[in-house]
Amino acid sequence: SEQYRFVVVANRLPVDEDVDEDGKREWARSPGGLVSALHPTVRARRGAWIGWAGGTGDPPEPFDLDGMRLHPIGLSQQELDFYYEGESNATIWPLYHDAVETPAFHRHWWDAYRRVNQRFAEATAELAAPGATVWVHDYQLQLVPAMLRELRPDLRIGFFLHIPFPPVELFMQLPWRTRVLEGLLGADLVGFQRPGGAENFFRLTRTLLGLEPEADQVVFNGRAVTARAFPISIDVAEMEHLAADPHIRERAKQLSKELGGNRRLLLGVDRLDYTKGIEHRLKAYRELLAEDRLSNQETVLVQVATPSRLRVAQYRQLRERVEREVGRINGEFGEVGLAPVHYLFRSYDREELLALYLAADVMVVTPLRDGMNLVAKEYVAARTDNTGALVLSEFTGAAAELPEAFGVNPHDVDGLKEALIQALRTPTEHLHDRMRRMRAHVRAHDVTRWAKDFLEALGERDAAGPC
Ligand code: UDP
Ligand code: G6P
Repeated sequence: SEQYRFVVVANRLPVDEDVDEDGKREWARSPGGLVSALHPTVRARRGAWIGWAGGTGDPPEPFDLDGMRLHPIGLSQQELDFYYEGESNATIWPLYHDAVETPAFHRHWWDAYRRVNQRFAEATAELAAPGATVWVHDYQLQLVPAMLRELRPDLRIGFFLHIPFPPVELFMQLPWRTRVLEGLLGADLVGFQRPGGAENFFRLTRTLLGLEPEADQVVFNGRAVTARAFPISIDVAEMEHLAADPHIRERAKQLSKELGGNRRLLLGVDRLDYTKGIEHRLKAYRELLAEDRLSNQETVLVQVATPSRLRVAQYRQLRERVEREVGRINGEFGEVGLAPVHYLFRSYDREELLALYLAADVMVVTPLRDGMNLVAKEYVAARTDNTGALVLSEFTGAAAELPEAFGVNPHDVDGLKEALIQALRTPTEHLHDRMRRMRAHVRAHDVTRWAKDFLEALGERDAAGPC
């Protein structure tokens, strides 16, 4: 069977299979920032991508998309429950995000996580050409590097974690902490969003395995493992291309008109996730309306909330709380034909999203913890005329790169309210200045450079195409 010199392994494929009520299969873009960043990366290298196609039961046959070879991995209903919704999204996700929701620990979840990681490793071992470069992604697959090395010691193996890597004190709660760490140490290169992630990693190798780092390396089982920060980014060229499209610009104007002509638009775009601080944002907005510091005649908040992981209890509960609060704000401050909050529980394609970015006067990004936050960078890249303001939580990876944003601690409601007012009231020239600098940074650090930096550090030579 065909083998590839560049293989990406992630829980998600770039497309997600939807089976509708009549049993008809359809493909849609998968949610989240991982896919936004990996799609251009794998496409450019004509690589193979191994991942789950969504749904349960027998996986579809491998197929081609955009010059990439996609290899679906199947999950049973029980694996979906225990590996994906359980260990990945009710244990590791909350634990790595500062335990903003309480992580749950169950041995049967962990068993399923190990089994599924093993299956991903075996599929990768079959697909990778001799000496190939394999790049494993994110918290769902932390055991794959070591499992794959066991099967295929000839491969060059990289791992990138898209979410924060937590402080030792939190990580130590994991009952299977040493197994997870040894899983990661199977890679030649482990990448994090921020230098703090790599620091936390080395504290752990010291605490759990007694390994002392030298510069950015530890030696484990006679092999050097490097750990460093590689802040992820976006496809700037795609954003700029879309931002220049006359249809999209027209759509942006139409959106502004439909939202009430000269009302200033505040925009939030998030997966409906408790790490995103959507409730904090709504609270600040409601208080500003209640105190008459903002008026429903003059401003409007559009909140896109992409459905995510809704079978996990914390996500269902969050949805209920958010929707109750939106209803409350609209009930108290709305008028006929003029709602203060437009809440959109759905996923948008790039075109509509770009139109929203172009229409928004203020982009509001308020996570309690976020590895990077690509939405913030996308907004900046889309504002090619240097207008607009970005309100950005200091607990995102993006905040370290965009100091010209209006920085906020979302837990500080009064501070958040101040920042929103400031973003709305700052004179245009000053906004231009801030946006120009942010745009220059994002343009100089786009996703192409991220992938190149990582793969060069991994020792990539000419990884491209099937062999
Ligand atoms: N996104 C999208 N459609 C939507 C909402 C979001 O395509 O309706 C994309 C958005 O453009 C971004 C990604 O989803 O590229 C979200 O990435 P981010 O890093 O902000 O957050 P994540 O969801 O990965 O936590
Ligand atoms: C974040 C994670 C990704 C994940 C995405 C969407 O970006 O880092 O690994 O794919 O969210 O979440 P989902 O559970 O739908 O894959």
